[in-house]
Amino acid sequence: MNILENVRLAEYTTFKIGGPARFFCIVTSEKELLEAVQFAREKGQKVFVLGGGSNILMGDKGFDGLVIKMEIMGIEEEKNEKGIENYESGVELANFVIIFVGAGEQWDTLVEKTVAKGLYGLENLSAIPGTVGAAPVQNIGAYGSDAAQTISKVRAFDSKNMAFVELSNSECNFSYRDSRFKNEKGRYIITHVYFKLSKDASVNIGYKDLKDYFLVKGIAAPSLAQVREAVIDIRWGKLPDWKMWGTAGSFFKNPIVSANKFIALKKIYPDLPGYPENDGRVKVSLGWILDKVCHVKGMEKGKVQVYEKQALVLVSKPGAISEEVVTLAHELMNLVKEKTGIEIEGEVEWVN
Ligand code: EPU
Repeated sequence: MNILENVRLAEYTTFKIGGPARFFCIVTSEKELLEAVQFAREKGQKVFVLGGGSNILMGDKGFDGLVIKMEIMGIEEEKNEKGIENYESGVELANFVIIFVGAGEQWDTLVEKTVAKGLYGLENLSAIPGTVGAAPVQNIGAYGSDAAQTISKVRAFDSKNMAFVELSNSECNFSYRDSRFKNEKGRYIITHVYFKLSKDASVNIGYKDLKDYFLVKGIAAPSLAQVREAVIDIRWGKLPDWKMWGTAGSFFKNPIVSANKFIALKKIYPDLPGYPENDGRVKVSLGWILDKVCHVKGMEKGKVQVYEKQALVLVSKPGAISEEVVTLAHELMNLVKEKTGIEIEGEVEWVN
């Protein structure tokens, strides 16, 4: 394994922003990962694990430590010692398949392959950039689904105990764009994810955009492949073209407010979209607030701007710097606070 020095990180992030890494290496196996971690320990360096770089804002000063680019690959159906595929912890699963995936695989390659095999569970998460290893960290989600619904286990290196571990779904403490991997930041390095996918479930088109899409097309019972196609179509219409703009998708989380706060907001803004959470609180659409209340679409700070078609998304032009993103983000946070009283938080991870 080759350890490089002073590698420009802008090349490795979808925002196309970021200074150099003091040390940088690519790992393709658990053995190499262990070597990399040991190197960092000996040199007293911090570690940052990079997947697809699609959900981070890397600082202009870069990262003063070791950046590990995760490239452990492989998409396999789990088999027991008798070669039977559908087993989980020794128990036969009648209608499910367990897929064991390397953290370095592109997320959408996995979705494409599982849809082609007729496996249900990931189709609503089509066309999300990034890698499989990053999916559990922030529990990626879209169109009424999230990764936690299909993740059965996560295999990771636990740098606290210096050992590989496997965490069950409940041990991952998943919630909206959140998990144990975020809360115990720096402790776990994900190497593989086990997905439990159904052979005969039905598609979930309850989310408004999807429902409307099929209504217009006159399709009452879409197939798995049609749902994937629809999600790709809708995403392309709303989210920026990655080849043209630097971006990390939604920049902020949708805030979750108390029921009373939601009622108060609805009195002023009757059209504000809200989705009830299990605990009685309500998740509100920040994109709507930024657009309809704060009118920030197209607002600019240097080479960074609020995307014209989706106000929750920030986009950057070539040459943009992280300071411009941070300044614009703070202005948006202040505006939302001032107009609605809501304190918002980043969905993108700020690294510096
Ligand atoms: N809206 C506006 N104006 C805007 C943006 C949104 O009026 O500028 C309205 C929409 O019309 C809609 C509502 O706000 O009624 C919600 O918007 P949308 O359906 O586009 O989704 P979102 O809540 O803004 C979330 C995820 C996206 C995901 C979409 C689709 C978060 C932080 N973002 O966005 O995920 O693709 O739902 O399911 O939860 C990401 O995480 O990077 C990401 C792109």
